[in-house]
Amino acid sequence: MRIIVHKAKCQGHARCSAQAPDVFKLDDEGYILPGDIEVAEGEQRLASRGARSCPERALELDRT
Ligand code: F3S
Repeated sequence: MRIIVHKAKCQGHARCSAQAPDVFKLDDEGYILPGDIEVAEGEQRLASRGARSCPERALELDRT
């Protein structure tokens, strides 16, 4: 599973990293780092929960 990061939509709510800190890395100002994220098998549940928790819809799940 991959998460497509729409960096421009991020407003620094940090809900994603609160759910899955190992998956969603933030910069010093609390914004998501740019670049899509490859999610390891064991982290998929937390990662999808984190992605869905973003109120700006900056994190798109790609299950293809
Ligand atoms: Fe940004 Fe959404 Fe996370 S606004 S810091 S991607 S919860």
